[in-house]
Amino acid sequence: MDSGRVEVPVAPPYQVLVGPGINLAEVLSGTLEPKVGAILTDSNVGPLYASSLQRTLEDAGWGVADVVEVRAGEGSKTLQTYAELVGRLARAGLTRDGALFALGGGVVGDLGGFVAATFLRGIDLVQLPTSLLAMVDSSVGGKVGVDLPEGKNLVGSFLQPRLVVADLGWLETLPAPEVSHGLAEVIKMGLLSGGTFFDDLDRIEAALDGDLDALRVLIVHSVRFKARIVAEDELERGRRAILNYGHTIGHGLEAAAGYALPHGEAVSAGMVAAARLSRERLGSDLVALHEDLLRSARLPLKVPAVDVEKVLSAMGRDKKRRAGDAYRLVLLEEVGKPLWGVPVAVEEVRRMIGGVVG
Ligand SMILES: NC(=O)c1ccc[n+]([C@@H]2O[C@H](COP(=O)([O-])OP(=O)(O)OC[C@H]3O[C@@H](n4cnc5c(N)ncnc54)[C@H](O)[C@@H]3O)[C@@H](O)[C@H]2O)c1
Ligand SMILES: [Zn+2]
Repeated sequence: MDSGRVEVPVAPPYQVLVGPGINLAEVLSGTLEPKVGAILTDSNVGPLYASSLQRTLEDAGWGVADVVEVRAGEGSKTLQTYAELVGRLARAGLTRDGALFALGGGVVGDLGGFVAATFLRGIDLVQLPTSLLAMVDSSVGGKVGVDLPEGKNLVGSFLQPRLVVADLGWLETLPAPEVSHGLAEVIKMGLLSGGTFFDDLDRIEAALDGDLDALRVLIVHSVRFKARIVAEDELERGRRAILNYGHTIGHGLEAAAGYALPHGEAVSAGMVAAARLSRERLGSDLVALHEDLLRSARLPLKVPAVDVEKVLSAMGRDKKRRAGDAYRLVLLEEVGKPLWGVPVAVEEVRRMIGGVVG
């Protein structure tokens, strides 16, 4: 578990490096020939880390055509920002063999990834995740995209990065609630994985206190787990769906709250509901375990009141459902044993959502 290096075995494979004080120039020179790149970041992360990244790249022989800062927050993951960005890269003269460095949280990673997937029909992407959520989840696996007014992540593509570097030093400036939001994904994957990953979830409180060793252990477990699932099912035709544990209901809650709810909090409540459904359907009693883990990460077990019918319709947005029709959910038979595509009747789902709102 000591190694902070995980290989994601897709074609072509790429490395995810996790640790304090990673020598980016050195790592990069083993991966990509120096050429011209652009940096995408946001208005919180840019002022902290973009100029030092630019210096590192230039010292390593790279040209930096542009440093683009978008406004921090989900509101930048739009087609409009996307259009402004690709226009700027075109004016900066970035060419087909250029690279985009996405320095920021999941918003910058998803938006930058979609730019890299499409600008000139695709340029290299280097993910430099600075939030815990981006380090454990969004920077690995190749899902990139933007939101529409009609819903989140409705336009996108798959583009695996060439390299991912997660420097734990960046987490020093991450606000505490954002650490909790990342831990929601860590808990999700620990429950799905079982084994030593699950055992190491007892390091959550240390991670919240900024213990770098605890953070590194939890990030490496998460990346290793996600890498394995992604390699088995890169385009989510089957088993990759287990990563949606707590997310089907979580996304419904987010949509019903008009996206005013942090994703990590919605997923936290979504996992509580999924644990209760697992108890009813599969006889597993993991509810108290879920609650203890989520509380240890300072995550809520409920979200503020939203209209349950709105949650249900957001969960089945694209299909008309009749009474008695089922939702297909990921449930946990036991720790480390997820089942996906389990049909659960609308009535049961409605009751469980009622239990995690208000
Ligand atoms: N592609 C995927 O597989 C995948 C998976 C999960 C989530 N996502 C997406 O990721 C996004 C959420 O990611 P997020 O939680 O990182 O959100 P985010 O990018 O908005 O970052 C959260 C906040 O933390 C700030 N921040 C980030 N790093 C910082 C640092 N080191 N110091 C100070 N502030 C910092 C950001 O500016 C922002 O205000 C969502 O859009 C979600 O859809 C994608
Ligand atoms: Zn998530």
